[in-house]
Amino acid sequence: MFNNIYKGKKVIVTGNTGFKGSWLSLWLHSLGARVTGISKDIPSQPSLFEELGLAQKTDHHFENICNGPKMKEIFQQVQPDFVFHLAAQPIVSVSYEDPIETFQTNTIGTAHILEALRFVSNPCNAVIVTSDKCYDNVEWIWGYREQDALGGKDPYSASKGAAELVIKTYYHSYFKKPGSKVKLTIVRAGNVIGGGDWALNRIVPDCFRSWKEHQAVQIRNPNSTRPWQHVLEPLSGYLRAGQVLAEPGGVINGEPFNMGPAADQNHTVLELLQAVSKYWESGSLEKHFDIAENRDFHEAGLLKLNCDKALYYLQWKPALDFDTTARLTGEWYNHYYNHDKKDISRYTLDQIRAYAEAAGKKSIAWVL
Ligand SMILES: NC(=O)c1ccc[n+]([C@@H]2O[C@H](COP(=O)([O-])OP(=O)(O)OC[C@H]3O[C@@H](n4cnc5c(N)ncnc54)[C@H](O)[C@@H]3O)[C@@H](O)[C@H]2O)c1
Repeated sequence: MFNNIYKGKKVIVTGNTGFKGSWLSLWLHSLGARVTGISKDIPSQPSLFEELGLAQKTDHHFENICNGPKMKEIFQQVQPDFVFHLAAQPIVSVSYEDPIETFQTNTIGTAHILEALRFVSNPCNAVIVTSDKCYDNVEWIWGYREQDALGGKDPYSASKGAAELVIKTYYHSYFKKPGSKVKLTIVRAGNVIGGGDWALNRIVPDCFRSWKEHQAVQIRNPNSTRPWQHVLEPLSGYLRAGQVLAEPGGVINGEPFNMGPAADQNHTVLELLQAVSKYWESGSLEKHFDIAENRDFHEAGLLKLNCDKALYYLQWKPALDFDTTARLTGEWYNHYYNHDKKDISRYTLDQIRAYAEAAGKKSIAWVL
């Protein structure tokens, strides 16, 4: 996989204790990488980071990415070959409650990571994660392309749009120059689901938290349509972007890439819940959901990504259809809660293998 580029490499993952960061750290570890994580905390209980035993498999620093001197110190010590920057305050509702903290972490924190990168002395390839929400969402029917206007009506979206500007500035001011040690790429995905997410105010974790208590989950906006994708889809894109960035003569330095699901994978919240609930075995649940009152904050409606650029330059495309995405997600939580929690690290690796097999059947380039 990934032409073995990560084997034996030093890789910094920020946000490594989070949902995506934990899956990514496990995957990198299985590829033979030496992972160093930076996160300010364990963001949920239960925690995928803890359940996968990642503290034993990786090196870890509990630090705030807004601590610039500390970031520089860690980067100087590790001299990473690759950096995957995922640390963020990622929840829209939380961003309304605490916009300043959201801007601090997502925008200024990203600047501190870029500033730490500026002083590394070895060649380093950095993949910086923003979001599909960085676009100025005009709720049109077409997929957003990478050159479309950035924006963001809520603080989370604006903090990611603002991070994009910071990244662009660092690229043009420092990393575009011939001889720059650092090359970077920006990756934009959204609405990720999969086993082991326990964040608050996200629909899939809310379901399994309720179902394990034998309660129906309260859902708002059942007819909202989202382009759902399994967590391994963008992660394969991030890893592929790092691989292509590192290859000699690459043309993707400074380029952003959308990494969304196939265009026909837009489904409503209700359809998603119907699909994942099929895999929940625990009995005595009369109904899986109740429709609650509408929420009182603005969350963008229709948002679709055009991923042609990632296909062209990275030969990346999604490997899973909606039913498989829902099945992998439902089966993971079902295994964790209703079967064997202790075995979840092996089970998660099995899902990574199953995902690679699905990608192999579609001849997606990173599998080689
Ligand atoms: N999950 C999604 O659906 C989704 C969609 C689009 C983009 N993203 C982006 O992907 C990335 C990962 O998201 P996730 O769902 O895994 O989030 P998560 O909440 O599960 O994890 C966030 C991680 O960031 C760390 N963190 C937060 N603030 C920090 C700070 N100030 N300093 C150091 N560490 C800090 C947390 O400790 C945790 O490790 C984020 O950048 C997010 O914006 C996620």
